[in-house]
Amino acid sequence: MRLMRPTKKYESQWRKAVAEFRSDSKSIKVWESLGDPDDIDVVARNAKLHSQGKNLPKGWVPYDLYWLMDGEELVGLVSLRHRLCADLMERGGHIGAEIVPSKRGKGYGSKLPGLLAPKFKALGIKRILVTSFDDNALSYRIIEKNGARLKDKVTAKGENKLSRRYWITTSKWKKPKAKK
Ligand SMILES: CC(C)(COP(=O)(O)OP(=O)(O)OC[C@H]1O[C@@H](n2cnc3c(N)ncnc32)[C@H](O)[C@@H]1OP(=O)(O)O)[C@@H](O)C(=O)NCCC(=O)NCCS
Repeated sequence: MRLMRPTKKYESQWRKAVAEFRSDSKSIKVWESLGDPDDIDVVARNAKLHSQGKNLPKGWVPYDLYWLMDGEELVGLVSLRHRLCADLMERGGHIGAEIVPSKRGKGYGSKLPGLLAPKFKALGIKRILVTSFDDNALSYRIIEKNGARLKDKVTAKGENKLSRRYWITTSKWKKPKAKK
């Protein structure tokens, strides 16, 4: 398994994933941040620009958007934020992740921390804030399983539910085994 930047090479995989996310009520819409999802050139270009802090939507911080690949198959999306702003401090944190709906429950989400650790290291980020809504047990189980400690729960601006906040140092995240 690996993380890769959006590329035209896997356009059909991207289209399939977006079609699934579009009809999924649980999607956190990481895929919407890149502009028109039906145009892979726009998606790849914006992913690159946003990573460089250019062409960002107002109020957004620079981030890296990665595709989680299992072989040739796109199984998830992850947004790695380079820094925190007031909104991300309450909800969102350093990481936004979603697994393609038909690929959930197969262990992919649990492998993300180990794959992300070297990316954070390369950016010089050692302490990571990870958040999860209090009603998203699947998400915070992964966070806790990977050694993060709950700091507190807050009600984020504009939300009517609690957001759990966890801090972790990436050195505690283990690299996933090579093959599922
Ligand atoms: C939350 C999410 C990322 C988890 O990814 P995933 O690949 O489905 O999770 P995994 O298969 O690694 O499973 C994680 C844990 O949940 C359990 N689990 C998975 N699907 C389950 C289900 N349908 N019912 C009960 N438990 C389930 C697994 O057994 C595992 O538990 P364990 O650690 O005790 O073994 C994924 O469900 C998702 O994309 N959800 C929508 C977007 C979202 O909520 N993102 C997180 C907010 S940032």
